[in-house]
Amino acid sequence: MADLTCSPERKCSGKLWGGRFAEQTAASVESFSESISYDWRLYRHDIIGSKAHAKMLAKQGLINEAERDAILAGLSEIEAEIRDGRFQFRIELEDIHMNIEQALTDKIGAAGAKLHTARSRNDQVALDIRLYLRDEAACLDTLLTDVQRGFVRQARANFGAIMPGYTHMQRAQPVLLSHHLLAYMEMFGRDRERLADGLKRLNILPLGSAALAGTGLPIDREFVAQELGFPAVSANSMDSTADRDFALEFLFCLSLIQLHLSRMAEEFVLWSSKEFGFLKIGDQYCTGSSIMPQKKNPDLPELIRGKSGRVVGSLMSLLMTMKGLPMTYNRDMQEDKEQLFDALDTVKASLSITAELLAHSSFDCAKMQAATHGGFMTATDLADYLVKKNLPFRQAHRVVGEIVALCQEREIELDELRLDELRRFSDLIDEDVFAVLSVEGSVNSRISTGGTAGVKVAKALARAEQQLGIA
Ligand code: ARG
Repeated sequence: MADLTCSPERKCSGKLWGGRFAEQTAASVESFSESISYDWRLYRHDIIGSKAHAKMLAKQGLINEAERDAILAGLSEIEAEIRDGRFQFRIELEDIHMNIEQALTDKIGAAGAKLHTARSRNDQVALDIRLYLRDEAACLDTLLTDVQRGFVRQARANFGAIMPGYTHMQRAQPVLLSHHLLAYMEMFGRDRERLADGLKRLNILPLGSAALAGTGLPIDREFVAQELGFPAVSANSMDSTADRDFALEFLFCLSLIQLHLSRMAEEFVLWSSKEFGFLKIGDQYCTGSSIMPQKKNPDLPELIRGKSGRVVGSLMSLLMTMKGLPMTYNRDMQEDKEQLFDALDTVKASLSITAELLAHSSFDCAKMQAATHGGFMTATDLADYLVKKNLPFRQAHRVVGEIVALCQEREIELDELRLDELRRFSDLIDEDVFAVLSVEGSVNSRISTGGTAGVKVAKALARAEQQLGIA
């Protein structure tokens, strides 16, 4: 077995990179610069990448088959040790890459010391994060789908219920609750698409770029790409070691998911208030007050809303870290991982609790229906009624505005006016106007593509159920 320790006459730092150093690294430096306390989470992907690299080295004759097999077996053992909590991480070995490499060399000797041939931690870490995020993207897709199913199930269960639709938080036009819920189906659908689209840029092999300039050793990057399921290899070794766009894009996707959750959470908070009374969140998913015995608080949606600050913060943090970094790898980039891990943990936990929340909440359809009375929500319908009788829309808008002003003055609703009173504003108004003034009539008239009419929403719901495999 080759002696891989430092020569005794030099007090070299005992590091894998220690040859040119005459002194030990200061302990304060080790603790300031280490990343093993968090990047251990990359261990499985680091090992997957190293195995593919070792296979390539053997295929290219850079190591022999016995060395390759020893490396593969040693890495498998290390993976099991880390998984089972039997692995001793060492802070003086900085990061997951060197912890694993050192452990491998300790285990199998010289063959282990050959693993890093034609490789740098710069292309290695870029590979590990890409592999890690690729798996996380798949996991997020599953969680997003569960949330979509939650919305669609509620849309089915409450089909037909009418509620006020809002703009500026003012009652605007009546809509089906199912239409409102299916709006979230679309939002989270875009989140899934966005992640899938990001994969195009994430799913590119950086390994083989080495430190920054490529390598003179006869490697086969296409082989490694195939082993790891990458459809493409990166085109420029400098770009691929300097690039963290994929991490930023991923953080943006996470930010937007959390932002969508936050907007939904805000509605849950409002709707579960006494003032609205639209939503009942199950007792299991609420908390009480330590002083006010009557309280049932929507802490979960509040926390989901609150956590959007930290996810967007992670995106901002990495944007600022990358801003102004010259080519190529700079140690600043080590800061990417904590942001990614924290944002991922937060978004995944928020998505999974949201799916539970949706399954344990119920809507008070009578309360919602009652809220559609008051607020002149069929005023646009009355204007459209006049338009159908050939009155230019602007004139119709004005006529209805005047009718609303009268109703406001008399504190009555539009459908409480008599026909002769209505006709004083326009003789285009006939008996058939009353069908238009009901909220049901209003909802069902909105048959434009994407509109809230029952026939349209029924189709959208069926489409969503089919897409999500809900029987
Ligand atoms: N721990 C480092 C990181 O996460 C790995 C790459 C270090 N490369 C280097 N040349 N120091 O970025």
